[in-house]
Amino acid sequence: MPHPTTVFRALVFVGFGAAVLACRSEQTIRFDPGTVAHHKLLDGLDSRFLLGVASSAYQTEGGAQNDWSAWERGRFPDGRPHIADGATAQRTADAWHLWRQDVQAIQELGANMYRMGVEWSRLEPTEGAWDEAAAAHYRQVLEALRAARPQAIAPMLNLWHFTLPTWVAARGGWEWPGAPAAFASFAARVADHFGDLVDWWCTLNEPNVFASKAYLTAEWPPEVADPKRAAQVMVALLEAHAQAAAAIRAHDRVDADGDGFATRVGLAHAVPVFDPASRFNPLDRAVADASDEFFNRVVPEAVANGEIRVHIPRTVDLKVPAPELRGTFDYLGLNYYTRDLVSAQLRGLIAPRAGGPRPFVVVHDPGRPRTDMDQEIYPEGLYRQLKRFASYGWPIFVTENGMADRAGTRRPDYIRAHVYAMDRARAEGVPIIGYLYWSLTDNFEWTHGYRGRYGLYAIDFDGDPTLRRRWTPAVDTFREMAANIGLQPSHDVGR
Ligand code: FCB
Repeated sequence: MPHPTTVFRALVFVGFGAAVLACRSEQTIRFDPGTVAHHKLLDGLDSRFLLGVASSAYQTEGGAQNDWSAWERGRFPDGRPHIADGATAQRTADAWHLWRQDVQAIQELGANMYRMGVEWSRLEPTEGAWDEAAAAHYRQVLEALRAARPQAIAPMLNLWHFTLPTWVAARGGWEWPGAPAAFASFAARVADHFGDLVDWWCTLNEPNVFASKAYLTAEWPPEVADPKRAAQVMVALLEAHAQAAAAIRAHDRVDADGDGFATRVGLAHAVPVFDPASRFNPLDRAVADASDEFFNRVVPEAVANGEIRVHIPRTVDLKVPAPELRGTFDYLGLNYYTRDLVSAQLRGLIAPRAGGPRPFVVVHDPGRPRTDMDQEIYPEGLYRQLKRFASYGWPIFVTENGMADRAGTRRPDYIRAHVYAMDRARAEGVPIIGYLYWSLTDNFEWTHGYRGRYGLYAIDFDGDPTLRRRWTPAVDTFREMAANIGLQPSHDVGR
């Protein structure tokens, strides 16, 4: 009989080999460009599929006064302005005034859904207040979407997309113990006011992105670099989601579109792929796994298990029971843009500390094109994530996917390849119920200001004081998809 140590070594060896093979096969999936080019987009679906565009309140409305508007005029400790080129969101796409053009633009796409935000700081400018004029504004927009022809545009209403009222921020933002309850009472009022027009609810946008940028890498307000605080903020956001989901279900009892459901609740979870820069370097694999765990796994695992687990190697190990999270997803929203190829940095791994050297850097695959925002174009990653997240069993909604492309000429292929990825996952049994392109129009891209142009409709922020929504070639790609599933665009007026 072999010695137990020998057996153990053999098992480790076999396990390691299997892991290398598994990651090889995942990472080496490559779509054939000819197949993608000839693929019929959304093949086999009909107009029950939810096809639309996404945006957020702060990035498009202009004029909001919140923690971001206060922060964006400042500078980082090294003197750089917080926002590239010293830009602000004070006017941005002026959707607050030009929303009719936006509804028109959505109709011209033939879309049947619009994911839009309500800005908490406008509706509840001070604690407990309710701004009737702001509510009337949103009501008008929601009514126009519902009344749109040739088909109605179902709103998906997003309640938090990175920005907070200043009265919440002043108390500590998501570190204020009262924040989840304050958010849930806001959600309850929004559901009371708009439940007759809204069935699809998105409580939060990308808690993982926010916790990372605002509390791990100090790139966003409140500019903190502290993994422990980042983990606590993840916990607070998940609790806010659970409480808001319950509030929405209790306060919106109206089935707006007569399909038998008054509410469909979920959140939008960002799921970049993290692959090791070198498949044969165990450190690269370890940092890719750790990034994936913090970024991609915490949220769905917490909702599936009713327990929030945040683990950052050698830094954070948090377990918080949260049974109230179970059952809070009617759908899982996935935002997918890109892949990060990560290369471990020994200095950052040996002495992890807030503000110290990072444990990894992101490297480029020379064989893959990149967007204007320097993101790798990796449609295979969407396929991989869809297959993987399907294992939880929730219906999946692609709540964001898009590319920064100022010229607008490469976006049609980006959309084509990503929708192909989705169709392929669907053909293999992944229950995908909708796809939303980010974004309807160019807008304020957070610290990148106006450098990242994601819009199906372009806006010339510097040269055109009317901010007209200008058609880009991907509008035709979108219309082709819509036509394939029997959706009708309104006549063209915007070209
Ligand atoms: C997503 C954000 C969205 C926008 C796009 C480009 O991560 O949800 O607000 O910035 O990226």
